[in-house]
Amino acid sequence: MIQIKNPTELKAMMKAGELAAQALALAGKHAVPGISTWELDKIVDEYIRSKGGHSPCKGYGGFPGHNCFSINEELIHGIPSKKKILKEGDILSCDIVAELNGFNGDNTATFAVGEVSEEAKRIMQYTKEALFKGIEKAVAGNRVGDISHAIESHVRSGGYFPAEKFIGHGIGRDMHEDPEVPNEGKAGHGPRLMSGMTIAVEPMVNSHSQKVRIMNDKWTVVTTDGSLSCHFEHTIAITNGEPIILTLESH
Ligand code: MF3
Ligand code: CO
Repeated sequence: MIQIKNPTELKAMMKAGELAAQALALAGKHAVPGISTWELDKIVDEYIRSKGGHSPCKGYGGFPGHNCFSINEELIHGIPSKKKILKEGDILSCDIVAELNGFNGDNTATFAVGEVSEEAKRIMQYTKEALFKGIEKAVAGNRVGDISHAIESHVRSGGYFPAEKFIGHGIGRDMHEDPEVPNEGKAGHGPRLMSGMTIAVEPMVNSHSQKVRIMNDKWTVVTTDGSLSCHFEHTIAITNGEPIILTLESH
């Protein structure tokens, strides 16, 4: 069932979103050659705790980290590890969720580690643009398919592919709520968007095909051909006018 948030709940969502965004920015600042994703996870977790929040991903379905850090061909759900050390030219997707006072904010950005290839810059640009194309359609009266279609069209216009199987989602008191928000689909289809809905829009994009597989660690999702992938995400609130991006560092 889709939960409609009242103004008090939306304020709380905004606070959780702010914290998630600040934590994401912090991860980005520290994403430099030589640091491990375990260290990044610790920095982010300590920051979120220091602000009175916590990281709901820890233990979710048995996930061992607090946040997901995915490098290059790793699309999502990378487990923080002392063995995963960033190097110049990598791209790093940081997927950060913060829960604060019972509400969740979820956001992701892919960061360049030092100087990266033109190929890396281009997939990052298209994926980020696809996120905003999707958000533009997230207006009361439209349907979820309008968001999906806008994302898919932009991704494909760059010669890229929306990754199979993984999708955006409603969010609120739970990290994952209804509705599902796919990264491909038909305009005019799917659930109707209503003011007060809060959703995480999150294009996950592959270079060469939609195909992904899960590594032996049971979590890390990678492109099957080892080519680059990319992920950007915001938590937003639907209104009768412009959507409100909740995961901003300050409102
Ligand atoms: N942040 C992810 C999402 O967008 C969830 C991560 S899975 C977890 O839905 F196991 F790490 F929690
Ligand atoms: Co999400």
